[in-house]
Amino acid sequence: MSNIREVAQAAGVSVATVSRALTNPEKVSEESLKKVHDAIKVVGYRPNLLARSFRAAKSFSVVVLVPDITNPFFSQVIQAIEDRAQQKGYAVLLGDTRETSKREQEYVNRVETRLADGVIQLRPQSMSSSTQRIPWVNACGCEGTPGPSIRIDNVAAAKTMVDYLISLGHRRIGVISGLKDNPHSADRLKGYKASLAAAGIAFKKEWVVEGNFTMWSGQNAAKQFFHLKQMPTAIFCMNDEMALGAIQTLKAEGLSVPNDISVTGFDDIGYAKYWDPALTTMAQPAEEIGKRAIDTLLRIIEGEELSNAEVVLPSEIMIRQSACPPKT
Ligand code: RIB
Repeated sequence: MSNIREVAQAAGVSVATVSRALTNPEKVSEESLKKVHDAIKVVGYRPNLLARSFRAAKSFSVVVLVPDITNPFFSQVIQAIEDRAQQKGYAVLLGDTRETSKREQEYVNRVETRLADGVIQLRPQSMSSSTQRIPWVNACGCEGTPGPSIRIDNVAAAKTMVDYLISLGHRRIGVISGLKDNPHSADRLKGYKASLAAAGIAFKKEWVVEGNFTMWSGQNAAKQFFHLKQMPTAIFCMNDEMALGAIQTLKAEGLSVPNDISVTGFDDIGYAKYWDPALTTMAQPAEEIGKRAIDTLLRIIEGEELSNAEVVLPSEIMIRQSACPPKT
């Protein structure tokens, strides 16, 4: 069986560096970490992980709490977290909470009993009182989320998208929102209203149809617009999945998107550019959110005081084919 000396020799680094890479990877440069990991594979070294955990008094695992594992936006964020965590010698435990506090608490218990070293919560707001007690980072949150957080400005991003529709000439703009009590829905609705107000367009509550951020809810919500006295000429959907579902319904009802009705999304998930028509959407920097979240968490686990760290990353409008000027 190979040993740590052989790893050091194959990597061209000292035994101490290999040992640090295994116990305190955050204290080793990315270049040396890569050399050590490559060498581990080459010589077939199997570290004694249990001994390593005892020595460091850490589990080298982090929990990621995700409200809906089927949402492709969250998959992108998780992938970035996982990649980075692995480089730094950490494993990721995934907790699909389905937004229930019971499931969330079960995962939090793992950290409290030292089976994991910290939590990244991919949810607008923390449901847990544990955020104060254990290493915790909120990613994809909203303004006012307590503790360290990495997010975009949802109000401004939604306003930018609705401003764009208005710039195309739309004045009857429907909305498919997420669940009304979800803080993302509230922030994105604020942005929608701010955009209407700036253009002197009166807000009508019947133009807002509630979905729940899933594709089928977008399909169902789009049907509601057919019951209005006048159809909107554009629909701002609060995420891509709902936009893709809405486009299906509108097409099935015989409308052309965007010639009869424009539809826009939010997130820029992988499918967005391959849909028919390719979806105009607000891109969130999923990968950057994931990387920053895990980097921040690992710094907290190492003892840094970052309780007020808040990073607001830019979002970007992706103009594709699902929106155009309204028919005159
Ligand atoms: O929670 C669902 C939505 O919120 C996602 O699609 C993404 O937009 C996130 O910010």
